[in-house]
Amino acid sequence: MKIGMLTSGGDCQGLNAALRGVAKTLYNELGDKVTLYGIRDGYRGLIEGDYHEMNSRDFSDILTVGGTILGTSRQPFKEMTKAAEDSEETKLEKMLKTVKEAKFDCLVILGGNGTHKTANLLSEHGVNVVTLPKTIDNDLWGTEMTFGFQSAVDIATTVIDAIHSTAFSHSRVFIVETMGHKAGWLTLYAGIASGADIIVIPEIPYSAEKIADAIKRREKGGKRFSILAVAEGAVSQEEAKMSKKEFKAAREKMPYPSISYRLADELAALTGHEIRVTIPGHYQRGGAPCPADRLLTTRLGVAAAQLIRDGRFGNMVAVQDDRIVPVPLSEVAGKLKTVPPDSDIVQAARDLGLSMGD
Ligand code: F6P
Repeated sequence: MKIGMLTSGGDCQGLNAALRGVAKTLYNELGDKVTLYGIRDGYRGLIEGDYHEMNSRDFSDILTVGGTILGTSRQPFKEMTKAAEDSEETKLEKMLKTVKEAKFDCLVILGGNGTHKTANLLSEHGVNVVTLPKTIDNDLWGTEMTFGFQSAVDIATTVIDAIHSTAFSHSRVFIVETMGHKAGWLTLYAGIASGADIIVIPEIPYSAEKIADAIKRREKGGKRFSILAVAEGAVSQEEAKMSKKEFKAAREKMPYPSISYRLADELAALTGHEIRVTIPGHYQRGGAPCPADRLLTTRLGVAAAQLIRDGRFGNMVAVQDDRIVPVPLSEVAGKLKTVPPDSDIVQAARDLGLSMGD
């Protein structure tokens, strides 16, 4: 059996651990009946036929290594069915050609939302595909947890923890901007875990006035500082009423490098305080996976290998009720898992007295 493996989209912690989980299980269960190939830089390698044979040594000592040994790239789904720059063929046709020429019996694809749309497209075109859910955003439909998420929560939490001490010393208001354009899972989890006072996520549009009120209430209660955990995709209540086109135009004109700087200015005007902004950025995606992600990727990797062994293609391995289960790619592709504003965890934050910025 010839199996091609690729990692696609933004990287995260645990990609190598997941590859190792798949490879070790396949070598263990199928022995020399299986040959693994590494496809370089995600779908780019599949489009250009850039792949190489691997062996069991390649998967040793990578459990704790950050990034991806295969490299990754972003290849937008909407371009898959358009002709590639250098030929008449579409990227999809090129990928199908590579699968045929390499005689891949199956592809193992590790990725997030965009990656899954393309994985589903390949599956619809007859390619045997098994996928694993990766992203620090935890916004993949069909699984309660994606790998990378818990490591990113650890990092964002550590950042907000550290900000607490300096905020206390100087009696300051701080904004820590965490990753997450469309989904606020990372901000919500790290915000609660680190004891942030105000949490702003894309799913709950904010009012600068309400946030300023929350800061003032804390001051009246004798608190020396306030810390806001703000998702990079946060939107104001005014923006939430705009059409997609209006929103895009308004954001293009926004004279700030990110939403947190605009919010900082608004809050400075409303509270009279100087507001400091800290952005950990890609730091949240780097370094070793946390133990919880090592465990999760290993379980997902084993399950993916078993699906391949049993010929159950066209599935993503997912977490549901703490069990690893297959979910059809057709059900996953194109759907986003955002934070339900009425979820228990949001309610818990509110019950604790946190402001959700609304
Ligand atoms: O999807 C993962 C993610 O890390 C998002 O949280 C973030 O908005 C985006 O990728 C950053 O993308 P890039 O690495 O292309 O800057």
